[in-house]
Amino acid sequence: MKGVVLAGGKGTRLRPLTFTGAKQLVPIANKPVIFYAIEDLVEAGITDIGVVVPADFPMARDQIMAALGDGSAFGARITYIPQDAPRGLAHAVSICRDFVGDEKFVVYLGDNFIREGIVPQVQAFREGGMNAMLLLYRVSNPEGLGIAVVQDGRVVELQEKPKVPKSDLAIVGIYLLDRHFFEVAEGLTPSARGELEITDALARLIERGYDVRPEIITGWWIDTGKHNDMITANRLVLETIESCIAGEIDAESQVDGRVVIDPGAQIVRSVVRGPAVIGRNTKIIESFIGPFTSVGANCLIEHSEIEHSIVMDDSTISNIPLRIEGSLIGRNVRVERSTLKPRAHKLLLGDYSQVGLAD
Ligand code: DAU
Repeated sequence: MKGVVLAGGKGTRLRPLTFTGAKQLVPIANKPVIFYAIEDLVEAGITDIGVVVPADFPMARDQIMAALGDGSAFGARITYIPQDAPRGLAHAVSICRDFVGDEKFVVYLGDNFIREGIVPQVQAFREGGMNAMLLLYRVSNPEGLGIAVVQDGRVVELQEKPKVPKSDLAIVGIYLLDRHFFEVAEGLTPSARGELEITDALARLIERGYDVRPEIITGWWIDTGKHNDMITANRLVLETIESCIAGEIDAESQVDGRVVIDPGAQIVRSVVRGPAVIGRNTKIIESFIGPFTSVGANCLIEHSEIEHSIVMDDSTISNIPLRIEGSLIGRNVRVERSTLKPRAHKLLLGDYSQVGLAD
């Protein structure tokens, strides 16, 4: 079986981070979200993986290619497949036809994230005679997602982001497919949002009598497309980490709970309350790093408090009087207390930035 990971798209819901980078590279517990997809595929025995990258967004394309390389670091072989524009998931999968050939394959959306991996599903699909297997997850807010209706062990109807959902079973962004997908994807027309929808192609499989099976997953599933989802995914992964202290902690600091401190990191007169991860060469000085927080590499946090947050590489947080929480802070960001007069908030924010100032 082959794997297809979709890492195109514009990531508009994660602006401004996605002006300068791919959303699939935003880190969860200091590891890019797309790495988890590749690892799930490899764990299920799928090592020949095509990654769809955005040709019209060279910065994101190059970052993804640099991060994943030839796949050998994951025990995989990666082939990059450029998509000229984000024309929809069915289009992104269709351009992988030559790469996939006649094999069965798994499509994994590069921003999706599930707790329990896909080993049993891949095994059942490899051995079974079905044409497609859809992973489904019970949700309380089905409106913004693909929805499946299940009857007698089969998927009988699909809806994409319906106003009136016919079930509470959301379609997870992991699809197990065979070559018939390519046949039904031909001749699809763009949806109201202007995309060739994978859900429409799958609905055609059902209409034409192919065997489409549901697999309801029970661990957790997160589509990390939005800021709050990222913070939630970070919390869920941090809940599972094991402690590993490779950096330095001085005698006046306190580190509680499960905490990873990478080599070269320094904790000085500070409290780190796990679960938390502190990246390589980061300095934490006279600060509080609260639970469920990831701080990337080469950061400086001094005289500040932060919890339930993600701080990406090379950023500085300095002398902030109120605790920062629920925040997603990009690369090379500076959040500092200004001593200049007049005493005022001084902001330099890119387009689509969001700032929540407290009194
Ligand atoms: O996350 C699950 C949902 O994913 C499903 O429930 C929906 O049925 C499905 O349509 C999809 O909805 P989204 O609107 O969340 O998909 P999104 O546009 O965020 O794209 C998902 C991934 O695919 C993302 O990593 C970007 C990539 N992509 C997207 C498009 C539109 C491509 O590689 N090429 C594309 O043309």
